[in-house]
Amino acid sequence: MQPKDTLKIIRPDDWHLHVRSGEMLKSVIGMTAAQMGRAIIMPNLTPPVSNAAQAKQYYQEIMNALPADTGFTPLMVLYLTDNTTPKQIQTALDGKLVVAAKLYPAGATTNSDDGVTDVKNIYPALEKMQQLGMPLLVHGEVTDAKIDIFDREAVFIEQILSKVIEDLPDLKIVFEHITTKEAVDFVLSSGDNVAATITPHHLLANRNDMLVGGIKPHYFCLPILKRENPHQRALLSAATSGNPKFFIGTDSAPHAKSDKESSCGCAGVLSANCAIELYATAFESEDALDKLEGFASIFGADFYGLPHNTETITLKKQDWIVPNSYPFADTVVVPFMAGKMLSWKFLVKD
Ligand code: NCD
Ligand code: ZN
Repeated sequence: MQPKDTLKIIRPDDWHLHVRSGEMLKSVIGMTAAQMGRAIIMPNLTPPVSNAAQAKQYYQEIMNALPADTGFTPLMVLYLTDNTTPKQIQTALDGKLVVAAKLYPAGATTNSDDGVTDVKNIYPALEKMQQLGMPLLVHGEVTDAKIDIFDREAVFIEQILSKVIEDLPDLKIVFEHITTKEAVDFVLSSGDNVAATITPHHLLANRNDMLVGGIKPHYFCLPILKRENPHQRALLSAATSGNPKFFIGTDSAPHAKSDKESSCGCAGVLSANCAIELYATAFESEDALDKLEGFASIFGADFYGLPHNTETITLKKQDWIVPNSYPFADTVVVPFMAGKMLSWKFLVKD
């Protein structure tokens, strides 16, 4: 039995992370490397990371931004465009640094203008991925202007995802940052080749946190926060259920404070600064701390066919206040739950 005031788990991974590039990358990458063994690095840079050579360059930029001894490995992702070929998929996988490819419906979110305009356009690439066992990571929202923003995930399941699974039944799919009961149910009713990541902000917050008492731009992310009932509740039960189809993926997505506190604020929430503490808080609220290790450190690696990390991390039961901001290139970024108290603190990696 571990004492109740510490929690020791296998070093976790982050299966969905944005770290940007240049000085912004240097500001945030250490946050993830301190806690996580590996992270799936999202490719939505401008221009996007859409071939093996760009992925290699980005990998090197990340490694150069880190001290030598973190033991952290970035796992690279190819950004799918209407023009991605099966050969590009093969070349990327052969290069060993790329482990997955990401479908952004064009216009769905930050830097997705080069995304896919019709999923049929990438079927040759998807067929290749199915054959190679390479996971497809999906931003699951339709972009049709007529569809209400709160319904875009559920409509994506109906109109696009269920069709892709019908046509490519063995394709490995990670339904990224799920936010609805519909998505939980869909993943549960699909085969073992379909899994999902869940963010800390979708576990800890709902649309009231963003909108009641004044609009809070630092809670604005995509897919947008949904209602507590049934959606946030469904995510909490899925994450803490011990079902290996659901695993960690922070979607930590830093933006400058001024870009979020604006008349047209951009989407994305920084959580890498205290990712594992946020998940511990959510799991404790469900009395399910014993399920954290599977979710954070085991199920994702198993889905990707990668070994578990050999290090461990320890969290300590301790009240502390999330800082109001962190340096971010020549400006600052405001983290999720800035100024709020958390009762778990990352202590040590060993
Ligand atoms: C992400 C970003 O800022 O890059 N934003 C977000 O709200 N999650 C993009 C994404 O993952 O959708
Ligand atoms: Zn993301």
